[in-house]
Amino acid sequence: MIYLDHAATSFPKPERVFRAIDDFARTSAANPGRGGHHRATEAEAMMEDTRRLLARLFGSSRPERVVFTLNATDALNMAIKGVLKPGDHVITSVLEHNSVSRPLNRLANEGVITLTRLEVGADHRIDPGDVEKAFLPATRLVAITQASNVTGTIQPVDEIGKVVRQRDALFLVDAAQSAGVIPIHMEQASIDLLAFTGHKALLGPTGTGGLLVGGRALVTPWREGGTGGDSADPVQPSSYPYHLEGGTPNVMGLAGLREGIRSLMERGVETVLPHERKLLASFRSALKDPDKFQWYGDKDGVGLVSLNLSGFTPAELAGILDGQFDIAVRAGLHCAPYAHRHLGTFPDGTVRISVGWSTTEADMKAAARALNEISATPATF
Ligand SMILES: Cc1ncc(COP(=O)(O)O)c(C=O)c1O
Repeated sequence: MIYLDHAATSFPKPERVFRAIDDFARTSAANPGRGGHHRATEAEAMMEDTRRLLARLFGSSRPERVVFTLNATDALNMAIKGVLKPGDHVITSVLEHNSVSRPLNRLANEGVITLTRLEVGADHRIDPGDVEKAFLPATRLVAITQASNVTGTIQPVDEIGKVVRQRDALFLVDAAQSAGVIPIHMEQASIDLLAFTGHKALLGPTGTGGLLVGGRALVTPWREGGTGGDSADPVQPSSYPYHLEGGTPNVMGLAGLREGIRSLMERGVETVLPHERKLLASFRSALKDPDKFQWYGDKDGVGLVSLNLSGFTPAELAGILDGQFDIAVRAGLHCAPYAHRHLGTFPDGTVRISVGWSTTEADMKAAARALNEISATPATF
């Protein structure tokens, strides 16, 4: 199988990730807890080490404020529902994934908040000037994705961060597609809340992710419960990470995530985007007639491209690639309906080809060969 769906989840994971999960599950996967037996302490130490790595990776000086969640969706919900109060105004964009749009839409539909959804230009970029213009006295939060999962566009997060900080609001960045692909420094970029997922470019297993909470953000917990310590306290402790981390965490998954992050850091995050762009360039150059396709991706974006071929719905094209060529790609709206309205590809969407650490030039050439064949003789498919 040629796997070109890394934007959904990276596959396979590096061998050492599988081994770390297996080893941890067999030898030391106890329920973490402060002051417990030595296996519990080991599990706690592994989590602390993973927090430390993540804080280093994302430019945070406060590892204790790396809060583990199930995925980016969980982290985004934790941030959105934890900081917003009745009467608040939020600025977001048409490029958001449903994990940002849906919680905001529900709060807006229920009359709790008001919402401005910024349009983007033909280059799919959010204009920091538009963010500034959209500010109202009640603006509490600006929530945007750093890299679109439909066009790949990388947003000017540093510039937007400056605007948000000047206006004293909170800046929430969805780094689901950018974490592990481009260097991120949350403190330098004035990001208050950084949501990431562990199972994409961080190379960990599904069921891992987190929210980095900056010093300015007051987040009310939406999940309260046991924290492995402070049991006498009748309410959730105010100290991080326990403030937002009730319940037994996914220790086995985090052992795998730690190994994924280690392998990424050993390779160097700065090498990832050049590798991905090179792969996409060789894909394009192996296409005999690129003009036969409609292109929606951003050449300067992260490692994905969206395309369509006249005569086929995206689902049909992806089905042919899967069924007849054993190439896995993703068709449809990619959980980002407003982005497809912006592109004019709603409701069918596009075919998204996305690359990752294990993708080779040979994979890209095979994908191009398959598309050459389909586009040359569409009637036979
Ligand atoms: C931009 C973006 N945000 C959020 C998510 C949600 O990530 P998860 O499914 O890990 O919660 C995704 C997943 O594809 C995404 O691409």
